[in-house]
Amino acid sequence: MALRTPTTSLRRLELSDADVLLELRLRNRDFLAPFEPARPAAYFTRAAQRQELRDGLAGWDAGRDFTFGIFEGDELIGRLRLTQVARGAFQNAILGYFVDEDHCGRGHATAAVRLALDFAFDSARLHRVQAAVMPRNTPSIRVLEKSGFRAEGFAPRYLCIDGIWEDHRLYAVTAEDHRAAEGG
Ligand SMILES: CC(C)(COP(=O)(O)OP(=O)(O)OC[C@H]1O[C@@H](n2cnc3c(N)ncnc32)[C@H](O)[C@@H]1OP(=O)(O)O)[C@@H](O)C(=O)NCCC(=O)NCCS
Repeated sequence: MALRTPTTSLRRLELSDADVLLELRLRNRDFLAPFEPARPAAYFTRAAQRQELRDGLAGWDAGRDFTFGIFEGDELIGRLRLTQVARGAFQNAILGYFVDEDHCGRGHATAAVRLALDFAFDSARLHRVQAAVMPRNTPSIRVLEKSGFRAEGFAPRYLCIDGIWEDHRLYAVTAEDHRAAEGG
């Protein structure tokens, strides 16, 4: 399955992406800090990025999680992950993403999320994808709304973001919702 639109594509991140991923991380360090767990300085090194990529590849091979790069042409401009894949009666994964600050506002995140839903429901045979977003993160809420997610609830002090237990809104989309939205 080719995960691409005319502007945006997704592909699995490989160990060979470590250097460009590190550059992306360094460039966006201040931009992403308010939206992510607190990162120690050691995270912003080639060794740590290679380790994260290795963990991602092992997770992919085990069917536990799927880590994609978001690309504009050949340029890595973000990352998207489907993590904590649950099978059995749940068939669920958790979605997370970011886009390079200089590439924001051009529809890349929305395109990437829609492609990831195609992958989740058609290739990974999942039934539900969920996401959690802080109420003040308007751009991310728009991305989820535009991708067919429904608000399902409010979770006080849900995730520790930049050192603070932050309230989140929970969103989800099921395979049925996605197929109906895609006209199938
Ligand atoms: C959230 C994020 C991925 C969006 O990426 P993006 O490529 O700019 O997203 P898109 O262009 O597809 O859509 C962004 C939407 O937010 C809107 N938006 C952007 N800034 C906004 C603001 N300050 N207020 C209201 N809406 C805003 C855009 O107008 C667009 O909506 P529209 O199409 O209805 O106009 C990016 O900002 C990011 O990486 N943020 C930091 C990490 C993060 O928040 N990750 C998600 C955690 S849940």
